[in-house]
Amino acid sequence: SVVVLDFGSQYNQLITRRIREMGVYSELKPHTLSAEEIKKMDPKAIIFSGGPNSVNGPNALGVDPDIFNLGLPILGICYGMQLMAHDLPGGETVTAESSEYGQADIDVTDSHSEFFKDMDEKQQVLMSHGDFVTKVPDGFAATATSANCPISAMADPERGFYAVQFHPEVNLTAQGREMLRHFVFDIAGAEANWSMDDFIEDEIQTIKETVGDKRVLLGLSGGVDSSVVSVLLHRAIGDQLIPVFVDHGLLRKSEAEQVLKSLGEDFGLNIDFVDASNHFLNKLKGVTDPEKKRKIIGKEFIETFSNEARKFKDVDFLAQGTLYTDVIESGTDTAQTIKSHHNVGGLPEDLQFKLIEPLNKLFKDEVRELGEKLGMPSELVWRQPFPGPGLAIRVIGEVTPERLRMVRNSDAILRDEFAKAGLNKTVWQYFTALPGIRSVGVMGDERTYDEAVTIRAVTSVDGMTAEFAEVPWEVLGKVSKRIVDDVLGINRVLYDITGKPPATIEYE
Ligand code: XMP
Repeated sequence: SVVVLDFGSQYNQLITRRIREMGVYSELKPHTLSAEEIKKMDPKAIIFSGGPNSVNGPNALGVDPDIFNLGLPILGICYGMQLMAHDLPGGETVTAESSEYGQADIDVTDSHSEFFKDMDEKQQVLMSHGDFVTKVPDGFAATATSANCPISAMADPERGFYAVQFHPEVNLTAQGREMLRHFVFDIAGAEANWSMDDFIEDEIQTIKETVGDKRVLLGLSGGVDSSVVSVLLHRAIGDQLIPVFVDHGLLRKSEAEQVLKSLGEDFGLNIDFVDASNHFLNKLKGVTDPEKKRKIIGKEFIETFSNEARKFKDVDFLAQGTLYTDVIESGTDTAQTIKSHHNVGGLPEDLQFKLIEPLNKLFKDEVRELGEKLGMPSELVWRQPFPGPGLAIRVIGEVTPERLRMVRNSDAILRDEFAKAGLNKTVWQYFTALPGIRSVGVMGDERTYDEAVTIRAVTSVDGMTAEFAEVPWEVLGKVSKRIVDDVLGINRVLYDITGKPPATIEYE
């Protein structure tokens, strides 16, 4: 394996990811790990990640100096390179007057270096740094240079120490993957022998050992992550798993039935199904403020789940489908918080379980691969994102059973037509919403004064930014016709052509 020590860069996730893609297991670990602890893990190499701090500043993060004596190859990336120059004798890192961010051209000055072997002399890379190395440590030679960063890379092949100021893990560094391959295979001598099947075997083993004969509670939401984690756990511990599915009545059409059928009947999970839809609807009566809606749903959800959880005795663990990105976005010890996810918190004092989060080293697409390997159907595994507060935040204004019916049925039509047109594979997220507009129409000879429905369809990579999708008129036309024909109370269909920013993907 390759151990990546975490100094807080937002790209860290990608480093481990790139290495796993090569078939070599890689894990991100705190930078505070001691040389002794690393030795026990028996890795083939160590990578120091990038990070937002300055090695000379008050918030500098360091490593156990004995790590340099383990005899293992080390690759320093960005902050990792600056740290090597700072910690190893003879080196120097200084803080620049201005920082550099963006693509830059480098010249590889030592093409004999294993790291740059057989590569172009001129390369485009992504630079993102304030500090830079002005003197290479004893035993090192500079191996690449750029206009703004004279020492863009350095190497001490004797000890297997390599460092780059730029980020080889991102696509903006054109030959970055090649460089990482050289480090992992040619320099560190790792073998490509890791796959998702190994992950499943390892996790099942770990889960069995951790859980023993205790019971594990799991909140099923119908989403991809909690579904995959439930199937994995069930395979490991069978009916010691208690999956609780709270239906808040704000799910899409047939969603609850599908989950119950697929996970319950096909996979044999013994699901504790709680139909709380009336309760939630009552609580939402008369509420129109978006934040209030979200708060009510969040609070009621925790309460319903807690009450249900109290029915089961001798439960020691709570399993969650937290992903690596959730962990990173909620802030780790070193990475700055981008947005808070509330997967973890929220349960009352008397329900403090030990957590099991088997997916917290994986990315979304790895979770989907895992789901497929576990034999889960592709409708479940490739499900688009769906917000926790459900359809309530797609009904602007008051949430009533009537209005839920309109949004639910129009959404089902949209999904059906998108699937028929093959758009379900290319459009990242798509749904309908009720914007709360009533307008005049004519149906037959009758005047109508009904609600409108808007179609939201976006392309995105991670939901943080998005563009409206260019859906063929023909498909939109079909959707529109079917909605006004079949969904009572709708007489107008709109298409939302706003990106994020300035709009958000959801309406509330
Ligand atoms: P916005 O509307 O913020 O949405 O552009 C970005 C992505 O996040 C999803 N979303 C949520 N997911 N709980 C969730 O689990 C929530 O409260 C929530 N709100 C928005 C949204 O569907 C989109 O994919």
